[in-house]
Amino acid sequence: MDITRRRLLGQAGLLVAGGGLAGSALAQSRRPTRPMQIGPFYPVQQPADSDADLTRIAGRDGRAIGKIIEVSGRVMGRNGQPVPGARIEMWQANSVGRYAHKSDDAAPPLDPNFDGFARLVADKDGAYRFLTVEPGAYKAGSTWRAKHLHYLVDGDINRLITQMYFAGDPLLGQDRTLAQDLNQPVGGQFPPAIFGQSLGKRADGVERLGFDIILIDG
Ligand SMILES: [Fe+2]
Repeated sequence: MDITRRRLLGQAGLLVAGGGLAGSALAQSRRPTRPMQIGPFYPVQQPADSDADLTRIAGRDGRAIGKIIEVSGRVMGRNGQPVPGARIEMWQANSVGRYAHKSDDAAPPLDPNFDGFARLVADKDGAYRFLTVEPGAYKAGSTWRAKHLHYLVDGDINRLITQMYFAGDPLLGQDRTLAQDLNQPVGGQFPPAIFGQSLGKRADGVERLGFDIILIDG
């Protein structure tokens, strides 16, 4: 068995003496984060400023308009093993629901201090963190999309595209894209794992949200 395969199985708790699979390991596994559609506004032209503070753009004095939030979490495999060095891209609309993307011709204005894109690398524990503003809802065709962040995550052997939603958003119940991704009728029940989990507030009052990402194998 090569080293990579041994390491992956070892992290997943699947190696036992003699090299067989532990029968109970999968029973304890976490549910992988649900894949969702990439949507029309993935930043094909990625901005130069892609650091973990989306509320400021390098070389500019201003700050993004909107409610500042800190989002953090861990990238893990199904058994909770960290995925160190996982690569995370996050993109989103600004606080009034407009993407800095050439295909978004919606009426709400761009924010010159917000380009809505981060590229991060998870640390040795699979942890990541960024500071941004809560996105605005936006119109998609004749209906509204609830507030969400888009993620693209590359682990060692898995790639996941998903979206994080905001609990209590009144537009959740009419978001057709979300319903499609959940394979359920519009306005159905929502699995808790699609939401950023409240982690309280920082000393400076910034709201903290947790969003762990579970890959199938890491
Ligand atoms: Fe979107």
